[in-house]
Amino acid sequence: MTIISALGSRRAIRDYRDQEVEEEKIKRLLEVATWAPNDRMREPWSFYVIKGEAKKRYEALAMEFLEERFPTKPHLVNSSIKVLTNTPVHIVVTSDVVPGDEDATKDNEYAVCCAIHSMWLAAKELELGFVWRTRGVGLVHDERLHQFIGAPENKKVIGNIFVGYPDEESIQKMKPSKRTSFEEKTTWL
Ligand SMILES: Cc1cc2nc3c(=O)[nH]c(=O)nc-3n(C[C@H](O)[C@H](O)[C@H](O)COP(=O)(O)O)c2cc1C
Repeated sequence: MTIISALGSRRAIRDYRDQEVEEEKIKRLLEVATWAPNDRMREPWSFYVIKGEAKKRYEALAMEFLEERFPTKPHLVNSSIKVLTNTPVHIVVTSDVVPGDEDATKDNEYAVCCAIHSMWLAAKELELGFVWRTRGVGLVHDERLHQFIGAPENKKVIGNIFVGYPDEESIQKMKPSKRTSFEEKTTWL
């Protein structure tokens, strides 16, 4: 597969088979992430792998969040929790905050985004499904996720990656990916 075709066929995969992800493959994703471009080689990423017993605790945290957020919508709480119980592994990715340097802090976040995208492409090659979640059970914008992973103050949570072996049936049902043409997004100066 060429890089260009891999970019064109990468998808957000949200449904997984009931199958563990081998530690070797998780390590491969993490290694690939560290090759991402980054300003001044600050290598601003840190990874927190949530699986096994930690995943159970994460589910409990998400349940607390969902019940608080949707007190009158138990069906929504249950379907959201199902998303978590059907996900074998999460990788939370943080970016280093540079005290007193907003620009460097932003550049660090951009580098972490590159790292996550690298992992996304590598996941495809490793036959893994992958989605970067921020909203809802992703909990990226909720301070409790930061506390849960035990990250220091100077690390900002950027992504919660959901990984697992894709459920083939739901892949078959996925609508083709669509994008606005670059022509509409580009100004040639
Ligand atoms: C920064 C970021 C945040 C995202 N957050 C979520 C999310 O919270 N929940 C979700 O289901 N997908 C999330 N996604 C995945 C997008 O919804 C997905 O990439 C988009 O629908 C395009 O589909 P594709 O990746 O299959 O091309 C996120 C993607 C990015 C880059």
